[in-house]
Amino acid sequence: MSGEKFTSKTGAIAAAAGSAVGLGNVWRFPYVAGEDGGAIFLFFYVLFTVAISIPMLICEFSIGRMSGKPVTGAFQALRPGGRWQAIGVMGMLTAFIILSYYNIVSGWTVYYSVASVGGWLSGLSGDEVAQVFSGVSSDPVRSLIWMCVVIGAVAFVVAKGVASGIEKYSKILMPLLFLLIIVMLVRSLFLDGAAEGLKFYLKPDVSKVTAKAIFDALGQSFFSLSIGMGIMTTYGAYIPKSQGLGGMAARVAMLDFLVAFLSGAVIFPCVFAFGIAPDEGPGLVFVTLPNIFNQMAFGQVFQAFFFFLLMVAAITSSISLLEVVVAFLKESFAIGRKKSTVVASVAVLLFGVACALSPAVFNVFDKVTANVMMPLGALAVVLFVGWGLPPKRLRDELEADGRPFRVFRSMLFMVRYVIPLAIAVIFVNGLYAWLCA
Ligand code: PHE
Repeated sequence: MSGEKFTSKTGAIAAAAGSAVGLGNVWRFPYVAGEDGGAIFLFFYVLFTVAISIPMLICEFSIGRMSGKPVTGAFQALRPGGRWQAIGVMGMLTAFIILSYYNIVSGWTVYYSVASVGGWLSGLSGDEVAQVFSGVSSDPVRSLIWMCVVIGAVAFVVAKGVASGIEKYSKILMPLLFLLIIVMLVRSLFLDGAAEGLKFYLKPDVSKVTAKAIFDALGQSFFSLSIGMGIMTTYGAYIPKSQGLGGMAARVAMLDFLVAFLSGAVIFPCVFAFGIAPDEGPGLVFVTLPNIFNQMAFGQVFQAFFFFLLMVAAITSSISLLEVVVAFLKESFAIGRKKSTVVASVAVLLFGVACALSPAVFNVFDKVTANVMMPLGALAVVLFVGWGLPPKRLRDELEADGRPFRVFRSMLFMVRYVIPLAIAVIFVNGLYAWLCA
């Protein structure tokens, strides 16, 4: 083990937040919140984040730091001789599979950033904007070209290492992302329909609080914090002992929530100002918004900012996914970081080609990871920490920075009983919804 570490607390938080803040925050969260009861959805989202996702983040960080290994070796190192290693291997495979289709979507964000700066989308009619999207998303060659650009950028950062790559670039990109979102928020709140948009987004609507809304809140919170695929475990090994894991998890979750929440506050005023139905699904970001930007004063600048933001969010998430695979190769085959990065990137590229050529493959990868592998991975982690490790070991790890971890008993209770049950419920529900769809 080379013992690579993050060099500062802000760096570690920026890297983990970089993973957490992704397409899920900017595109999915606002849309789901608007559909699932506004403020009430937010209430459940925050509740689940505090009671379930933050403890999960703490568990993942702890396993990584306690073992000092990437996710694929961590469980084995903590409980030698068992079959626990399978949990880590599954996490790594989940990251790998997600990466192969996530890169394609990230590629679209790069294309849209370039197109916005180049003014290629300005002055187009609604239909033409829709054609641009179907052009880039259904043409495998173009998807692949932009995906290669993303893979190249992500590999460049990961190859440079934990401190001089991942940490360094996260510390630049994450503040930039916040700055962009604030600028956009100001512009958005000055639009004519802003109040109406915010009302749709945030108005508590009890009639929309269904079981589905509640499952959505938990699932979204998990996905958004990149839980269940070994990322936070792998990053945990890079967090120095002097840093409190509880505080770190809470900060990452807060930043992640802030970006999600503010994205909604940017998007809904735009959507309402231009009289568009707020439930557009995937097309919202790539079709509806460019149309809106085309009609807005200073829309082109706004558009360039927006897609740049989306690209940064996507790329920092891809960095964390690739790192899981690279750390595994480095550790298991004793090869250097650069070589591991090349091997991992080529493998991801090949799987990406399959996704680009076949929407069915793309879909299966997405559904299997989201509905099966991620929940199973999270369940295995929480059971391992709750029942497979002596509580004292966990407590010592959480107090390694010399400060007491005051809510340890309540957290252990959640980890042992409540969280496994909650994950089992979303797992069964997600599987049922997917198979019956
Ligand atoms: N957390 C990211 C988001 O909110 C998504 C993600 C999932 C990133 C899996 C990395 C791995 O979009």
